[in-house]
Amino acid sequence: SDMEKGTYPHFMLKEIDEQPFVMRRIIQEYQDTDNNLKLDDAIRNAMTACDRIYIIAAGTSYHAGLVGKQFLEKMAGIPVEVHVASEFSYNMPLLSEKPLFVFISQSGETADSRSVLVKIKEMGYPALTITNVPGSTLSREADFTLNLYAGPEIAVASTKAYTAQIAVLAILAVDTARAKDLELAFDPLQELAIVANAMEALTDQKETIEELVRNNLGTTRNAFFIGRGSDYFVCLEGALKLKEISYIQAEGFAGGELKHGTIALIEEGTPVIALATQENVNYSIRSNVQEVVARGANDLIFSMKGLEQDTDAFVVPHVHELLTPLVSVVPMQLLAYYAALNRDCDVDKPRNLAKSVTVE
Ligand code: AGP
Repeated sequence: SDMEKGTYPHFMLKEIDEQPFVMRRIIQEYQDTDNNLKLDDAIRNAMTACDRIYIIAAGTSYHAGLVGKQFLEKMAGIPVEVHVASEFSYNMPLLSEKPLFVFISQSGETADSRSVLVKIKEMGYPALTITNVPGSTLSREADFTLNLYAGPEIAVASTKAYTAQIAVLAILAVDTARAKDLELAFDPLQELAIVANAMEALTDQKETIEELVRNNLGTTRNAFFIGRGSDYFVCLEGALKLKEISYIQAEGFAGGELKHGTIALIEEGTPVIALATQENVNYSIRSNVQEVVARGANDLIFSMKGLEQDTDAFVVPHVHELLTPLVSVVPMQLLAYYAALNRDCDVDKPRNLAKSVTVE
């Protein structure tokens, strides 16, 4: 069953491997018999009626929200703000006239997010919850729910819920774009099917990642992740994964930002993991890598097919440029997993952490 590890040594590895299947399940659940997108009219109406979306989330779900902002702005033409739940309540931004709140939460039980939900419902605003647990508190207390269909996620480190959140946000953006009669140059379900295949190819390359970890993250105290555009958001997630299960101090930075201070931490051999899946910033991220290499950094470039260079550490299959986080995150998850294994850490139950944080 979903609650058992089967032949897997850890839930996290099982859940990483489940991602292609989750993508296919989402494609199935969100299409009707004519292969059209299937979403509640009520959700569609709320999306087209709002003048701004406020995404509220924590941790990995917040990182998925950052990617979702790109979809909603670029495809559906709606301005989006993404907020960390614990900051929002007492540091509330000026709200637009017709806000729609979107809560992203794997568990649907995160107390920080719930307190925002309670507050904005008191203010009379509509809320949509995107969650893996349909009967959860955040789902019950919001006006609308979109399910992630990822199946139970047991490992404390979130993996398949993150990619499910991104896929559902893409579907939501495309559906809204269509409802607004906006032209879209791609079929989201077809593109997600390509993603599912790419994910499968990636989960078949565990040994390559394991070796990269052995050779580059063995005894390091810290590691940096750099990327531009959506690669930056995946860097935040890659760094969080590495921190929470391997206890390596890790930080994600926008490629151009490191030189404004943090580059002072680069020493001989400091691992710098760079993501290069975006054509428009491929040149600039590679020059950021050169800046750190010149200070002794050990660079590991994760690029995408079509943008790769000979010296890159790893190349992910080509997917639609908006959907690259769905594939580039997989080697980041595996990197964290093997780094934790290497250090004999408790992969599924890292110290100090609970699966869902139900206190504010
Ligand atoms: C992810 O690896 C973390 N364990 C954590 O950041 C998590 O994403 C966060 O607590 C939010 O949880 P939720 O999605 O259940 O609301």
